[in-house]
Amino acid sequence: MKRYFIHTFGCQMNVNDTNRMGEALASMSYSATPTADNADLIILNTCSIREKAEDKMLSALGRYRQVKLQRGALIGVGGCVAQQEKDKILEKVPYVDFVFGPDAIGKLPEIIARIETEKVRVVETAWVDSESYVFPQADPRSSVGRTTEFVTVMKGCDNVCAFCVVPHTRGREVSRPFTEVLQEVARLTTVGVREVTLVGQNVNSYLGGISFAQLLLRTAQVPGIERVRFTTSHPHDLSDELVEAFRVEPKIMSHFHLPVQSGSNEVLVRMKRDYTIANYLERLAKLRAVRPDIAVTTDIIVGYPGETEEDFEKTYQLCVDVGFDGTYTFVYSPRPKTIAGLKEAEWGPVAHEVKVKRLEKLNALQKKVSVALMSQHVGGTVEVLVEGTSRTNAAKRFGRTSHNRVVNFDGDAPIGALVEIKVDSSSQSSLGGVQGRVISLPNVAIPEVAPVAESCVVA
Ligand code: 5AD
Ligand code: SF4
Repeated sequence: MKRYFIHTFGCQMNVNDTNRMGEALASMSYSATPTADNADLIILNTCSIREKAEDKMLSALGRYRQVKLQRGALIGVGGCVAQQEKDKILEKVPYVDFVFGPDAIGKLPEIIARIETEKVRVVETAWVDSESYVFPQADPRSSVGRTTEFVTVMKGCDNVCAFCVVPHTRGREVSRPFTEVLQEVARLTTVGVREVTLVGQNVNSYLGGISFAQLLLRTAQVPGIERVRFTTSHPHDLSDELVEAFRVEPKIMSHFHLPVQSGSNEVLVRMKRDYTIANYLERLAKLRAVRPDIAVTTDIIVGYPGETEEDFEKTYQLCVDVGFDGTYTFVYSPRPKTIAGLKEAEWGPVAHEVKVKRLEKLNALQKKVSVALMSQHVGGTVEVLVEGTSRTNAAKRFGRTSHNRVVNFDGDAPIGALVEIKVDSSSQSSLGGVQGRVISLPNVAIPEVAPVAESCVVA
């Protein structure tokens, strides 16, 4: 049996794509190996959202060259950089055997067979038309050992945020028919999955036969499903119907990731984000009216072309006012073919040191806010879905609260148990505690094994 190793960079869409690649390779009798050193096939599933991600993939590629020299391993590049650079990757990196875009995952067996029989290098980056695109079905065996899983509901993005490369690398939005989504969720419950996160670049504009709010409600009704989450949302598509879903369905978890990107309306116009800060706050207020304690996380870009000190102060003030549960902060990175990339010189590039200073200032604020929010739990009880052994302390178990806060605890509850935890400590990013009452157990016993697909994810 041949062995494959996939190095995954970037977002959840890529992690899901890696799982689908693993399933396609399993159909050709390849099995996963946790290290590249003994692999016969190495795939880099790449991300191009920021320049750094691309640099990381190039340096990883350099490391894998040794495996090629020693074992004759095949090397492939998939994901967003592949889609963007196409045959240029073969020109730049002579030891890469094949390049394939996100729409070509199902063709992996065909691509590898061609390389082996015809001894050619292959580039497969054509888009499949929206009408004929078929979403690969997840094999529930890839989810054995997990009680929480991601389910793809759409791909691509029809927005044109001026900084973002995604519409160029992932193409137009295509929604997965709701019946397929619900079938996949039901199949996942057969291996003990009790929590699903519906994922897409812009899930609120879902058009798979029912609205996204209805999809969430229907998902929550699938027998065996106790918790539903989703990501990512664009603020301009946050409908009243979605807010209403939070009011009526307690299985929708109390966490909303709502990227704001900037606190300055002038910057938002240049970003082509299509909302003002007043609109953003109004939607947040509606959400908080139905779920007063909802945890809100966000993405922020600092140092966007033309961002003044005053613009940045507005972002800082917004963070003070909202009290985000978490902020993913990024230094602006110009991307090929994007409006901001083309206009940076005209709008005024921000010096690197200024960008870094702004980032550090926001991160320092977030640290204070998060520490304060987390410490409020100490002395209280939280409900947690157990995911397994703690990632930071092998003697403890870990799970997440409805608010998506990590809890490391002393106890022996199996994976998939919903338990109460008495919280006795907190930090910026996690809570500590002791297991209390077991609320419910999964329908099937979930083995404490490293999940098959994840064993090959380095991320
Ligand atoms: N530079 C910096 N950050 C970016 N993001 C997207 N494109 C860029 C870019 N060119 C950030 C946004 C987005 C998150 C996934 O990545 O904040 O929400
Ligand atoms: Fe990129 Fe904007 Fe689409 Fe998000 S909504 S993927 S930031 S273009």
